[in-house]
Amino acid sequence: MNYGKIVSFDAEGSRVAIQFEHRMAVITAVTEEIINVFCGLKSDSNHSFAIEGDKSKSVNVIANMVGNYIIISTPKLAVYVYDNFRVSFLKSDGTVICRDYKGEREAQGAAVISKEAAAQARMEGHVLTDGIKHRAIEVVKCMEGDEYFYGLGDKYSFLNKKGYDFEMWNSDLPEPHFESMTRLYKSIPFFIVHREAVNYGIFFDNHHRTYFDLGKENSSYFSFSADDGNLDYYFIYGATMKSVIGGYTYLTGTTPLPQLWTLGYQQSRWSYENRAELLSVADGMRNNEIPCDVLYCDIDYMDNFKVFTWGETQYPQHQQMLTDLRERGFKVVTIIDPGVKKEEGYFVYDEGVANDYFVHATDGSIYENVVWPGDSVFPDFGRRAVRNWWADKQRLMTDDGVAGIWNDMNEPASFRGEIPDDVVFSDEERVTNHAEMHNVYASLMCKATYEGLKRHTGKRPFVITRAFYSGAQKYTTAWTGDNQSHWSHLRYAIAQLCSIGMSGLAFIGTDVGGFGASCTPELLCRWTQLGCFVPFFRNHAAKGTRYQEPWAFDKQTLDICRKYIRLRYRLIPYLYDCFRTAELTGVPVFRPLVLNFEKDVKTAEINDQFMLGDWIMVAPIVDQGKVSRDVYLPKGGNWYDFHTGERFPGGTRILREAPLDTCPIYIREGAILPLWPVMNYVGEKKVDCLELTVFGNDGEYTHYQDNGEDFAYRDGAYNLYQFTRKGGRLTIEMTNAGYADKYGAFKVTMNGKTFKIKFSGRKLVI
Ligand code: GLC
Repeated sequence: MNYGKIVSFDAEGSRVAIQFEHRMAVITAVTEEIINVFCGLKSDSNHSFAIEGDKSKSVNVIANMVGNYIIISTPKLAVYVYDNFRVSFLKSDGTVICRDYKGEREAQGAAVISKEAAAQARMEGHVLTDGIKHRAIEVVKCMEGDEYFYGLGDKYSFLNKKGYDFEMWNSDLPEPHFESMTRLYKSIPFFIVHREAVNYGIFFDNHHRTYFDLGKENSSYFSFSADDGNLDYYFIYGATMKSVIGGYTYLTGTTPLPQLWTLGYQQSRWSYENRAELLSVADGMRNNEIPCDVLYCDIDYMDNFKVFTWGETQYPQHQQMLTDLRERGFKVVTIIDPGVKKEEGYFVYDEGVANDYFVHATDGSIYENVVWPGDSVFPDFGRRAVRNWWADKQRLMTDDGVAGIWNDMNEPASFRGEIPDDVVFSDEERVTNHAEMHNVYASLMCKATYEGLKRHTGKRPFVITRAFYSGAQKYTTAWTGDNQSHWSHLRYAIAQLCSIGMSGLAFIGTDVGGFGASCTPELLCRWTQLGCFVPFFRNHAAKGTRYQEPWAFDKQTLDICRKYIRLRYRLIPYLYDCFRTAELTGVPVFRPLVLNFEKDVKTAEINDQFMLGDWIMVAPIVDQGKVSRDVYLPKGGNWYDFHTGERFPGGTRILREAPLDTCPIYIREGAILPLWPVMNYVGEKKVDCLELTVFGNDGEYTHYQDNGEDFAYRDGAYNLYQFTRKGGRLTIEMTNAGYADKYGAFKVTMNGKTFKIKFSGRKLVI
């Protein structure tokens, strides 16, 4: 894209419009630390599917022409704009943070082979790179050398993305995921650049097919590009990586607090084929004393895969079944796909046809493809009327007693080839096409589902999705799609979940035990040990694979799964506090070590350990047959072995024995962990007495409590407790008292002793 030389500029408030010889472009200081770089190549507005509402703050912006470039300053940043719309970002003290690359792109180390040799390699199915591809929109930035790249949502790769390329095009990939897959189900075009002296993020808010090359083509630069849409990206500066994520979630929204029961253990399978089978799973949980809150109905619960119906043959009297399960402490979540069976007389199809709610082929007919129900049609979720209709339909499920909705196949997946780019979709009243709406289709479906559940129940909606675009974290949780019961998938899950968390989506999980292929007892033990700390803790397996409920193998496997599922319930109050932090700051629940210890360079590439919040560090076993491992304990204080209480200094590497029943867990000194008693399901026992386990002599912790269900907390109906450990004493103080159900006592473990103490007032010093 040739912009030409700068001709003039016009500054108005925090917006600076720049006239180049061939185009006009705009730099806007959204806040002092967030800069939007925009050129309306397709449309004049930077209308976004990720950012809702006006995010602009009043910023004191000064713009000056200095020689042949413009300097635009906020109190925190200086943006230098050069000819051809090259942009550099500097700190206000003049330190360069990031600058556009001014040279030509050149594929470094590209292999030059003859046409014949290339043809021969292709004959066996090898994929060869075809040299440099230029795209309609292309931004190339200098690599300074010390960058680590994190984020980009759901990618099958390690934490640091430097040296690799990626694509954003929501894709249904049932085959085993592996490293060279540049795209998966979700599109989150946001990444963080961490350097020794600076941190920043780039959010490329372009929902067409986009591409990211983080130094693969050439180690002198990295780039992001798109086939279509506008040049529209946000440069997000942050003193720490956490504040960069804070900037990104300030724009796109944070993950809201979920209902408490959604943090419990969840059991699924494609499918529990009928009522008897589902009930036997419920019995299995209770008989084996395995805590469990949620059971799933996958596609086979429906009548011929028709969404919003129940198959009476498989699930007779399903309302009564849902009521019975609810009384035993189980919630049921049902799957809903976007594909609507094409069948006259089926109410969802008929209503959609009558109101013109489905997407169209270019000849004006309703577009059809094939998914589970056979010939199917697809709601045009870009239109408010269609979303409202879909939101209303949720009532059919909630009135029956369904507690959450699992949105699947919403890339949208289609079995008769991918939906062609030119199929007619809408963006509200504007007619557009599949190529433009593909990546946001799932987000719009989730938003409709969220609004429906909220409207019909008044509770915090529990929506789960497979596909995703930035910003949908406001409406949905997600899982990583069809993984496999492979050890490599367990290993990669850690970096995958950390990357998604750093990309703004805090409520995330992976199918425990693996979806495709068949699980082994050892793999299930190790995966359940990981799942215990993953925000969305669901065991799920594919049709035709071996059963993998905790009791499906042998006593040892059952005992180990039970041990870690019980530990999960002990940790729920801590997890919930982490969710509260995520809602307030955007900082994820499940994090890489580097996010908490970015000054400790040894943490930058640790892919097989992770943090749960600020205080718990886990080093799971992710290799078959392994019964010990090395563990890095980051600098900055001591660490306690959770199982033995042994203390280790930070900044050290230790060897930990880890037989099959042991997952290495370490607690940072200063932690004051809130714990629950074990219970069969959330709410089974009223927690009147909170357990506090104190590690070390100095520390502070804020604990949050509310009704765990609805939105009253947004009007102040919550309690905050401040725990302070200083000079050998522990102070418990209530700093917000908005929720009537307060703790009446605390059971404190500190200095090697455990004792119970009543709490009636607002402040207690022990
Ligand atoms: C897709 C989903 C999977 C589900 C299956 C049947 O493969 O990813 O989780 O079980 O469809 O609905």
